[in-house]
Amino acid sequence: MLASHLPTIRSQFHFVIVNGENAAGGFGLNRESFDAITRAGADCVTLGNHAWHHKEVFSLLDDRRVVRPVNLPIGTPGSGFQTFDVKGDSGALERITVVNALGRVFMEATHNPFLTMDELLSRDDLGSVFLDFHAEATSEKAAMGQYLAGRVAGVVGTHTHVATADTRLLRGGTAFQTDAGFTGPMDSVIGADPEGPILRFTTEMHSRFTVKDGPAELNGVIMHIEDGRAEFVERYHHEERA
Ligand SMILES: [Fe+2]
Repeated sequence: MLASHLPTIRSQFHFVIVNGENAAGGFGLNRESFDAITRAGADCVTLGNHAWHHKEVFSLLDDRRVVRPVNLPIGTPGSGFQTFDVKGDSGALERITVVNALGRVFMEATHNPFLTMDELLSRDDLGSVFLDFHAEATSEKAAMGQYLAGRVAGVVGTHTHVATADTRLLRGGTAFQTDAGFTGPMDSVIGADPEGPILRFTTEMHSRFTVKDGPAELNGVIMHIEDGRAEFVERYHHEERA
C-alpha cells in the first residue's frame, strides 16, 4: 500500500514521517521493511512499544532517519529525536525535529513523557517540533496535545491503529489528532487476521496473530508548518478497492 500510494503523496509535500513500529510482519521494524518504507518516500521512520522486537533494528539505529521512543533509560541505543533541515515552499531550509514518545497508560513503564518533553524543549536548536506520541489512551494523547499547545508544531498519536475524527489546530498553532490511524488491511482486527484475536477473546488462551491479506487503507495527517507553528491540518484517508 505504501509502495503504491506514498510516492504520489510524497511528490506533493516536503517531508513524510511514517510510524514503522508494526511494519515487519505486525511487530517492530527490520531492514527489509525499513528499506521498503524509505523507498516509498518516507523521510523519517518512528518506532514505538515494539521497537526492539527484531534484533535487526539495532543495525538501523545509526541511520538518522530512525527515531526510537525518547523516554527510555539513559544509555538506550539510538535517538529519541532527530533534526532535519528541509527545503520549504520558498526554497529556504526549514528545520524540523521529529520526536517519538511512549505513553504510560495501559502500557509498559517508561519515564514520564510530559516531563521528558519539557526537558527536550529546553533546547534551542530544534526548529519546528513534531511529536509522534505512541500511546494507548485517548486521554493521555489529548492531554499531551493540550500540554504542548503553542510549544510544538504538531502532536499526532499512533499505536491504536484507528484514525480519530478530532483533527484540529490547537491554540498557538499546534496541529493535533489523537491517532493517525494505520496503513493496513481493512477487514481485520487492527491489522491482524480476525481469527487470532477472536480466539483469544473467546477462549482466553494464547493465539498466534497473523497479518490479514486483502484490500488495505492508508491513513495519515497532513499539516503545513511554518516557523514552528502549524497553519493547516487535515486528516488523510485512502482505500484500495476490493
Ligand atoms: Fe504500538
